[in-house]
Amino acid sequence: MSTFEPKIVAFCCNWCSYAGADLAGVSRYQYPASVRILRVMCSGRVDPVFIFDAFKHGADGVIVTGCHPGECHYVTGNQNAERRIEDTMKALDYLGLGAARLRLEWISASEGQRFADVMQEFTKEIKDLGPSPLKKRKTEAE
Ligand code: FES
Repeated sequence: MSTFEPKIVAFCCNWCSYAGADLAGVSRYQYPASVRILRVMCSGRVDPVFIFDAFKHGADGVIVTGCHPGECHYVTGNQNAERRIEDTMKALDYLGLGAARLRLEWISASEGQRFADVMQEFTKEIKDLGPSPLKKRKTEAE
């Protein structure tokens, strides 16, 4: 049995999904402790450079979460996020990391249970994929 515990970086928008994460915590909905939450003002604020940087610093998976379509505090921020994530997924495939290590999800402030469920599911998927190829390359180089 694998002892691999994936490191997951979760970018959460301030107005919806961060509040959803907070609700999950307050409600004691369980999600893996290996999920590291980074609060951003909007999912549209997540520059692809942030995502590549997370992988460079040891993330096995990155998830960007934001307000549901039509509910973004900045009107079109989540639409921009969607386009950026699609492009970033293509780049991850091209680089050999695989698009499956990146996910975009819409989670509202009232969806604490959904936040926990999404984090559990994504963590399991990354666990099945194994450690990031960047980690393997780094270990081989040392
Ligand atoms: Fe939440 Fe834009 S403010 S996605």
